[in-house]
Amino acid sequence: MTGGPDTPLGLPWPAHAARGADGAVRVAGVDVRDLAAEQGTPAYVLDEADFRDRARTLRAAFEGAFAEVGAGVDVYYAGKAFLSVAVARWAHEEGLRVDTSTGGELAVALRAGVPGGDIGLHGNNKSGAEIARALDAGVGRLIVDSLGEVERVAAAVRARGAGAPPAPVMVRVTTGVHAGGHEYISTAHEDQKFGLSVATPADGGDSPALTALQLVLRHPELRLLGIHSHIGSQILDPAGFAVAAQTVLGLRADLAERTGYLVPEVDLGGGFGIAYLPGEVPLDVDRIAKEIAGAVDATCAALGTPLPRLSFEPGRAIVGPTTLTLYTVGTVKPVSLDEGTSRLYVSVDGGMSDNIRPALYGAHYHAAIVSREGAAEMVLARVVGKHCESGDIVVHEVQLPADVAAGDLLAVAATGAYGRSMASNYNHVPRPPVVAVRDGASRVLVRRETEDDLLALDLG
Ligand code: LLP
Repeated sequence: MTGGPDTPLGLPWPAHAARGADGAVRVAGVDVRDLAAEQGTPAYVLDEADFRDRARTLRAAFEGAFAEVGAGVDVYYAGKAFLSVAVARWAHEEGLRVDTSTGGELAVALRAGVPGGDIGLHGNNKSGAEIARALDAGVGRLIVDSLGEVERVAAAVRARGAGAPPAPVMVRVTTGVHAGGHEYISTAHEDQKFGLSVATPADGGDSPALTALQLVLRHPELRLLGIHSHIGSQILDPAGFAVAAQTVLGLRADLAERTGYLVPEVDLGGGFGIAYLPGEVPLDVDRIAKEIAGAVDATCAALGTPLPRLSFEPGRAIVGPTTLTLYTVGTVKPVSLDEGTSRLYVSVDGGMSDNIRPALYGAHYHAAIVSREGAAEMVLARVVGKHCESGDIVVHEVQLPADVAAGDLLAVAATGAYGRSMASNYNHVPRPPVVAVRDGASRVLVRRETEDDLLALDLG
């Protein structure tokens, strides 16, 4: 570390990213120029202390808020956002459990030494092998997503023989609440693949959710742990969580009235939004935890039911802001726009293969030159990748120094969630490494793919 008066970059950058007096950025005391020299680019650079702090802070916020109303709570780290053996271990060390959605994610969590009981398995189409593996591992919960899956999990338990313990299951329901961005909408009927609707069908019979819950109760091979609801992702308006909580708690009370069984747990999913751009305000975790705890408490009081144990599954809010992607600038090309204006197209050595989110969702990111301070005025730029399509955009619009040039290091902020985990090998581009930085030292968590890795799959 240079020891100079480094200036923290602030959000949306990792907590320990700061620009030194020499103009170059350090992340957790590691100079990005050294990282680029040692690891090459592109590379995902993950601030380990930021990850741990976010995990711990989130857990403490929910524990504190629910302790006030007298309920227990568990926080699961949603591995789909980004999972590696080290990251699963960090989450667990910080007191979180791990949420997985495939056999592959489950394998990573198990390799990290996370006990099966601290792992949940999701998935709307789990294979027989995934269910068997989850049962072998003794997962703490299987979240079932359809009536057919209730039967399949029960059959898998039976196949394990007479002494096999019942599988702990939650039923994933859809509450009609969809959130994401600045709004939420609430609709009665759902037209999507996840979960079982709580809406009463046209014939006035039981909702699919109530039917599934009762079906679970009729199976001695299954232990009904609770009800699960996930309303969306990148949510910045907290209102949807309280509405979903009310619906789920109402369903829990209906089931108890019908069957005498009050499910002990309710999971309200993940989805807490983060800042991607300067000035964007992330969801305030303390506030949201208090609001949800208040809504749960009030709803249970109104229903006359004791409080359940709660759980949450944040992914993005823990890992998203911790990571930047480091690229090297290649071609720089001004392109004329209407009315005499122009835009600088800045090509970097990655693109839609390491971050599909701009192309897939129109997601916006922020970027900066990090190997030096720009001396020139700032100009409107678009950061693009090296792939063979015009939609290969990394950052739609950003101000960069007019003298940006080949060889400069450019970083894109807040790429920790759904970056590496959704990366591809489009155009046979090997996927970048994930490098953790902490206290002035770096460590490769996931190594860079090589052309040999890719060719090893090609049988000629
Ligand atoms: N729990 C369940 C059941 C989920 O389906 C998800 C995300 C999460 C938890 C974690 O949500 P988070 O806290 O990370 O928002 N690829 C998209 C996001 C897909 C989210 C899918 N489910 C993106 O890049 O924006």
